[in-house]
Amino acid sequence: MSETDLKLIIDDELDEENNELIENEVLEIKSKVDKKNIKKELSIKDLPGVGAATAEKLESAGYRDIMSVAVSTIGELVESTGASEAVARKMINAARDSMKMGFETGMEVLKKREIVNRISTGSDNFDTLMEGGFETGAITECFGEFGSGKTQIGHILAVNALKENPNAVAVYIDTENTFRPERITQLAEGVGLNPQDVLSRIMVARAFNSDHQMLLAEKVESLINEQGKDVRLVVIDSLTSHFRAEFVGRGTLAERQQKLNRHMHTLAKIACMHNICVYVTNQVMAKPDQFFGDPTTSIGGHIVAHASTFRIYLRKGKKGSRVAKLIDAPNLADGEACFEVLTEGLKDFS
Ligand code: GTP
Ligand code: MG
Repeated sequence: MSETDLKLIIDDELDEENNELIENEVLEIKSKVDKKNIKKELSIKDLPGVGAATAEKLESAGYRDIMSVAVSTIGELVESTGASEAVARKMINAARDSMKMGFETGMEVLKKREIVNRISTGSDNFDTLMEGGFETGAITECFGEFGSGKTQIGHILAVNALKENPNAVAVYIDTENTFRPERITQLAEGVGLNPQDVLSRIMVARAFNSDHQMLLAEKVESLINEQGKDVRLVVIDSLTSHFRAEFVGRGTLAERQQKLNRHMHTLAKIACMHNICVYVTNQVMAKPDQFFGDPTTSIGGHIVAHASTFRIYLRKGKKGSRVAKLIDAPNLADGEACFEVLTEGLKDFS
């Protein structure tokens, strides 16, 4: 071995030792920073105007951490704690200050987007349209006529959301009695998962009316906070059927939209705070005054349309295929994907 070879080997070893030292140092610094952060984290009781009694009221209304107060509205706080508007405003402002909820740089936003996951639909075409699948931290809405595949997508998402992580849980809020465990079994087998394990990690609730549906959505928080469930997906199938049935006639439109707005607000909050994928289905109705183009429109109007981060229009295609058309997305190009519903899952239509 020449002298230079020997020197190289020694250099390599020294480098390795150095790397290890540096790594240890980094770990130490990280743990110190973590400890500091934990100490700095405030609890609800640290907010101005919150004594033991108010804290208790807040907690029983589902406000468990500063973030939940920071993202609530004055009206919500007044309603759930009986505090005056001024006190509620003070609490929210203090919570927002402590969460540093002001402006942030684009780089910081980009960093936050790193935690976004995507849940596969099983169809490559459809996944490509969504740049990998349905995003966590956002609401995705599929609307389309009967039999267009909205419920099937809800079922396959529930299965695929559980694939990567053995502790993950999916929540299914069923308003039309169309959740079928037998179908979950087929789809789980289709992706090579144990059907019983999958079924045991899907929490299903039947919503009997719009108030019940709204309550169930609010209860998702307690599944996470009280029962420690790692909820990855919330399906609401269908978002609008109860609202549509209960509020009939023009005179009730304002009230319906107000309630829907509150419901969407709850959903957006859980999606954002817990990095959950929220999937909602929506029906279409005929637009009697439209003569050109597609004569259908989705229920819920602008309220639902604006609150959904991604909107997909589903329609039946040729030879039993289904076509998904991306109507609205913050960062994806509009486009279409053709797929079909098979016993084992969604597959590209060829
Ligand atoms: P509505 O809720 O009535 O508005 O319809 P939807 O959009 O929820 O339709 P859904 O998701 O229920 O789609 C129904 C279609 O999926 C059926 O017409 C079938 O083509 C297909 N489908 C449902 N279950 C199965 C199944 O077990 N095997 C196969 N191969 N196809 C299925
Ligand atoms: Mg359905």
